[in-house]
Amino acid sequence: MPKRAKISVVGAGGNVGASVALWSANKELGDIVAIDLKRDDMLPVEGRMLDLAQAGPMELFDSNIVATDDFSAMEGSDVVVVTAGIPRKPGMSRDDLIGTNVKIVKSVSDNIKKYAPDSIVILVSNPLDAMVYTAWKATGFPTNRIIGQAGCLDVARFKTFIAMETGFSVMDINALLLGGHGDDMVPLPRFTNIAGIPVTEFISEERLGELVQRAKVGGGEIVKKMGTSGYIAPASGTVQMVEAIIKDKKRILPCAAYCDSEYGVGGYFVGVPAVLGKEGVEKIIEVNLTAEEKALMDESASHVKDLVDVVKNLVPELA
Ligand code: 2OP
Repeated sequence: MPKRAKISVVGAGGNVGASVALWSANKELGDIVAIDLKRDDMLPVEGRMLDLAQAGPMELFDSNIVATDDFSAMEGSDVVVVTAGIPRKPGMSRDDLIGTNVKIVKSVSDNIKKYAPDSIVILVSNPLDAMVYTAWKATGFPTNRIIGQAGCLDVARFKTFIAMETGFSVMDINALLLGGHGDDMVPLPRFTNIAGIPVTEFISEERLGELVQRAKVGGGEIVKKMGTSGYIAPASGTVQMVEAIIKDKKRILPCAAYCDSEYGVGGYFVGVPAVLGKEGVEKIIEVNLTAEEKALMDESASHVKDLVDVVKNLVPELA
């Protein structure tokens, strides 16, 4: 019988982490170790995971789900998802979280290096692209095993708005998005279609521009309405990646992956279409961009570089 995969979620006491556990269990992707450190009292996390385990007989998944504050429990993990860190509040940008979250992600990464040295790590904490860099430097893992979740969520937001606009099934909407996980991310209407038909056959260029803009600030729209960050769709995007890796699907998903010559990025983690399989990032797909699209990508990548500089100043050992 094939061995069940082991998925550790660090930050499982938070909404995104708990939702990653939920989607992973519901898709029966493996056993789950839910780790949370920040609490004096682990009972709420234990309760939340017990609650999830008790859905198993109804949702028909078999998954051993444990909650713990002991990082050694992640030993042997195939995938470690890092959602630890503070979320934004209304009026905050993702970048405002960097001072607090860089320390948390650095300390989590040190533990991953110690206890799960062969794992593939998916970062979700914000500001995403800088936190991926932080985990890469702190673990010293090869770049194929350090990936950031952002593009799956961001492109899903764009697809959702297109579905809402046209009334067509989300299943038939294909889109591509590049760049960092900031308001300067780059949705690409030229690579967007509905059942293979260019999206511009259904939506005017002007209206499409409005949907692009709504997708770019889609995280902020949720924060304004809910008072904190979204967690259901961010967790769903993460589990899309976990599934692609654990099942060796070779899916092409937009993720924050290490790009050197690719897109002329020069050694940073930026959102690009990547093939995800059992090795993590197995290939980066480069598409030819127009001068205008390239300029937008360069601007977004330059914002990522600025954030990495902030990380290096805050924690010199990550330089
Ligand atoms: C978002 O865009 C949490 O950054 C995440 O909702």
